[in-house]
Amino acid sequence: MDFNALWDVSYGMYVIGARQEQKNYGCIVNTVFQVTSENPIICLSMNKDNATHDAIVQSGRFSAAILSEKTAPRLIGTFGFFSSRTVDKYQGVAHEMVDGLPVVTDQITGYLICQVVSVVDVQTHSLILGRVMQARKLADLPPMTYDYYHKVIKGKAPKAAPTYVSPEKEKAVAQEKTVYICDICGYLYEGDFSQAPADYVCPVCKADRSHFQPHKAK
Ligand SMILES: Cc1cc2nc3c(=O)[nH]c(=O)nc-3n(C[C@H](O)[C@H](O)[C@H](O)COP(=O)(O)O)c2cc1C
Repeated sequence: MDFNALWDVSYGMYVIGARQEQKNYGCIVNTVFQVTSENPIICLSMNKDNATHDAIVQSGRFSAAILSEKTAPRLIGTFGFFSSRTVDKYQGVAHEMVDGLPVVTDQITGYLICQVVSVVDVQTHSLILGRVMQARKLADLPPMTYDYYHKVIKGKAPKAAPTYVSPEKEKAVAQEKTVYICDICGYLYEGDFSQAPADYVCPVCKADRSHFQPHKAK
């Protein structure tokens, strides 16, 4: 199977929010798409290990904030590489509560408030179908695509993401030169890492420079 073919499937970037027992949950997903047009229903693929998965399934509701190209990469680091079980991801992050659900507001194009209508078991993930109860457009900014996240922000996806690519694959892509890759989020450092400042932190997940490992291809 040629996994390169799957890399050309297009996606957007979203923060899915949920609230369960007075606690806010949230994580990044790239896998949102609209299923029906009238009384619109959207679908997302959520890993069962994500704390946000259980919060959505138990509460029956979720929000989807649509990220733009102006959204800070750090937001993706916080919501995409840490768990709501151990971190209050919304602390220090601009957000508002809409209909009792947390919605991040950092340069998003808009948001959707959804009621779960169906949960489909797909091995490691659940497909969560949600009826859009409220939709609000906030800014005329270009929505961030998954391709933009990879090519411009140079971000990667963790194992929980359906589109995860292993470090071995990354090494093959890096071809013949030594590159420095963040061992937490997979961010690829561009240039001579020895010149990076002592207090350098990963722009995506905030890991310090000790997390950048050299990888030599082949
Ligand atoms: C770029 C990117 C895309 C992701 N896409 C998905 C996705 O579509 N589905 C999913 O379940 N997790 C996805 N993730 C992983 C979750 O955001 C991640 O596992 C998160 O830490 C879960 O947090 P939680 O435990 O607080 O729910 C993605 C992460 C990143 C960085």
